[in-house]
Order: sequence, then structure tokens, then C-alpha cells
Amino acid sequence: MIKTAIALAHPNIAFIKYWGDKDSDLRIPANGSISMNLDSLYSRTEVTFDSSFEKDELILDGQDPGEKAVKRVTRFLDHVRLMAGIPNFARVSSENNFPTGSGIASSASAFAALSLAASTAAGLELDEAALSRLARRGSGSACRSVPAGFVEWQAGQDDESSYAFSIGPRDHWELIDCIAIVSQEHKGIGSQDGHLLAETSLVQKIRVVDTPRRLDICRQAILNRDFEAFAEVVELDSNLMHAVMMTSQPQLYYWQPATLGVMQAVSEWRKSGTLVCFTIDAGPNVHVITLEESSPKVIADLLQIPGVSKVLVSRPGTRVRLVSE
Ligand code: PMV
Repeated sequence: MIKTAIALAHPNIAFIKYWGDKDSDLRIPANGSISMNLDSLYSRTEVTFDSSFEKDELILDGQDPGEKAVKRVTRFLDHVRLMAGIPNFARVSSENNFPTGSGIASSASAFAALSLAASTAAGLELDEAALSRLARRGSGSACRSVPAGFVEWQAGQDDESSYAFSIGPRDHWELIDCIAIVSQEHKGIGSQDGHLLAETSLVQKIRVVDTPRRLDICRQAILNRDFEAFAEVVELDSNLMHAVMMTSQPQLYYWQPATLGVMQAVSEWRKSGTLVCFTIDAGPNVHVITLEESSPKVIADLLQIPGVSKVLVSRPGTRVRLVSE
């Protein structure tokens, strides 16, 4: 019997970031993290299990993504097969409506959507925490794209205790993420390999030890809608993660000149009273966070910065969900 399911998931932007693992196999993170789902961006993933398939097949944005990506998905599907007690291979087709691998967490939305589509097609009915744990095995940050709105991933110490949950619905706060695109190229070292280097940096220990403090400040700032406290901790956390990356062996530099141009402009705008801050993932593009009322000017001003080719705008997004087409 053929079983198919289609799911849609949004990527998320981390305000307190995950970098480095306690257990890289299970993707138990070195520290907890907090994020927001991004409503205008999504991965749509279709999974079919069929006894006539002779191997797993993966199509990403209409193309064969290569052996490494297929191996990663097969490993993930092996776990789903084990959970569901089925032997069948699967055909997976996934599309993103945004550039893959350029520091907009495509693996987060892709594995969140894959978790729901694959588990449903395999006949499993997982609750939100179980779905988040499953997504975590594909890509750590994917566990945060399972619940809705503003999300915290408790690091935990094992599979059972490491999952994400919502700390505020999407309409809790009108934050807007204006992603300044400075490059659409696929990044050199993906986060999967980057996590393994975190421990080689002297800065990682300090960053991890201080994370519970930053998590508390960020969580409270979100709950109280306190933009100033939020902006300060979000920029500090991003800079700390990039300090780890830049002091790893080998060193990882994800920024380009235009990345720094945006960071400096955002700092100036905040000094002159605009409620705005930046955060950067494992890529050169800058997530510029602001509020609804300031967003038209922030977007227009971002487009004036040399090297910024476009701005993608997102509001807080929903949880992963099944769709019919
Ligand atoms: O889930 P991964 O392995 O793609 O790691 C995500 C790493 C960052 O995006 C840089 C930070 C984060 O918490 O999302």
C-alpha cells in the first residue's frame, strides 16, 4: 500500500543560538536556545513510502542534491522506519521558497517538514514534543520549527529531555525579521560540520557557561515585549557565537564586507532611537529585527546599503502542519 503525506514548515531565526553539541549523534546541544518561526518562508516536503521502491530517493528543489544529502535523509528515515516498524523505502521531494544553505536555516524547516510528513506517511501519530525530538535528529534547529511562534529548545541531556516548546504564540509580539540578503551562494562549511569545531575555540566554554543567563534575559524580554533588553542580549549572543566561529581551528568566517556594513548601520539606527537589532546565523545574510511600525523605513534604508540585494520580510510563523497539496 502506498502512503503519502505532505507537510509545510517555516524556518526559524535564533535569538539565543545553538552552536556545538554535547552529543553530535543525537544532536543534544551544548546549550539551550530561543527562536521565532518565520512566516513568509517555508519548506514543503512530500514523503511516500512504498514497498516497490528499491532505495530512498530525494529531490530537493527539483534536483538531485547529491550523495551526502541522501545519506543524511536515509539515516533520518531509518529512525522513522524503526519507530513505525515498517521496512519500506521512501521517495522524498522537498522545496524551499528561499535560498538554500545561505544562513537562512533551510535545514530547520526541511527537517521539521520531513519529520511530520515522514512520520504521518509511516502511520505514526506523534505529539508535539515527540515530533520536535524527531526533527532534532535531522538538524538541531529543526526541533524549534515544530512548535508555533516564539520557541525555546531546552538543551536536556538525552533524547527524551532535549526538545522544543512554544513560549509565546505568533501574535504575542509584532516582531518583524527583515533579512538583508548580501549573498545567495551556498556557504562553504555548513552548520553540521561547524558544530564539531565549536569545542576547538577558547571562547566556547565561556559562551556555554553564560547561556542560562542570556536565555533568562531573552525569555523575559520576549514575555514583557521589552525591545531594548531584547536587542542587547540578541546582538551579544550573535557576536558571541561568531566569536567562537572565528576563533575555531580552522577558523570560520561567515561574514562578508556587506554583513558588517549592515551591522554598523543597525547600531547607528538604534543609537538614534529606532527599535532595531541584528542577528546572524552561519552565513553572511543579516537578520534585522524590528517592530511593525518601524519596518517600512528599516527595509527602505537596508536597501540603500551597498551589497544588500534584497530584503526578505517575515513575521512570527505557525507550527509545522500537514497540507493537502
Ligand atoms: O540546526 P543546525 O545544525 O543547522 O544549526 C543551527 C545553527 C545556527 O543557525 C547558527 C544557530 C541556531 O541556533 O539556529
